[in-house]
Amino acid sequence: MSKKLALTTTLALFALAQTGLAQTCRFPAPSQNFTRDRYSGEWYEIAKFQTAGGAYFEKDCVCTQLNVTQGPNGAFYADNICRNLVPEGNFTNALGNLFNEGPAGRFKEQFFPFAPSVDYTILLMGERDGEEYSVEYDCGTSFLTGTNYCVHFLARKPTMSEGLLQTLVDEVNALDLNYEGLPLQMTKQEGCWKNAEESMTQ
Ligand SMILES: *[C@@H]1O[C@H](CO)[C@@H](O)[C@H](O)[C@H]1NC(C)=O
Ligand SMILES: *[C@@H]1O[C@H](CO)[C@@H](O)[C@H](O)[C@H]1NC(C)=O
Ligand SMILES: *[C@@H]1O[C@H](CO)[C@@H](O)[C@H](O)[C@H]1NC(C)=O
Repeated sequence: MSKKLALTTTLALFALAQTGLAQTCRFPAPSQNFTRDRYSGEWYEIAKFQTAGGAYFEKDCVCTQLNVTQGPNGAFYADNICRNLVPEGNFTNALGNLFNEGPAGRFKEQFFPFAPSVDYTILLMGERDGEEYSVEYDCGTSFLTGTNYCVHFLARKPTMSEGLLQTLVDEVNALDLNYEGLPLQMTKQEGCWKNAEESMTQ
């Protein structure tokens, strides 16, 4: 092997190793406030950090909601519900099965039997000045798509004050979870909920 080729190969391997290191899922501690009852029910997605491969279900989503429900024998589900492209668009949903909990607030999430699962952690939850919030981090690695992560900022109402959102984003950044430095994407919720009644039933 020529010296130049050897150097190029070494550099390429070094770059690959670095990429490999950067693209590792993190295992932050779940929120101490987490309980299944507190996380259950309907949430509105306010914003997210999401890698392209993780955006598969949510690519064309507006009016995105999460509906967390409990079933028999410890079953726990997170239903991702949204409208396609516009508030009048068709509903789409993807029901995630949350299982293998441990520690409390960290699960595996799987959308189909035999599909690869992702790690799903409820990072933050609580209430500030009457605003109930939670932040969920999921991350998975697969041979085909590499490592993909998403951080979802959720509220019980379709809006969140800027101050609270900034505080939550700062906490996520302090944990270095958005290590690809992706921009925060605001989820369209305007025009989705004509009145409180509709947001409760849809
Ligand atoms: C909604 O779904 C229906 C039935 O699948 C389809 O006919 C219609 O074109 C869809 N509408 C939009 C806006 O995508
Ligand atoms: C737990 O919830 C309380 C009140 O809702 C909040 O002030 C506090 O920051 C939360 N703690 C954690 C660790 O998330
Ligand atoms: C959430 O799940 C509950 C219980 O199954 C259901 O009554 C409610 O309509 C669902 N909400 C949404 C937005 O799908």
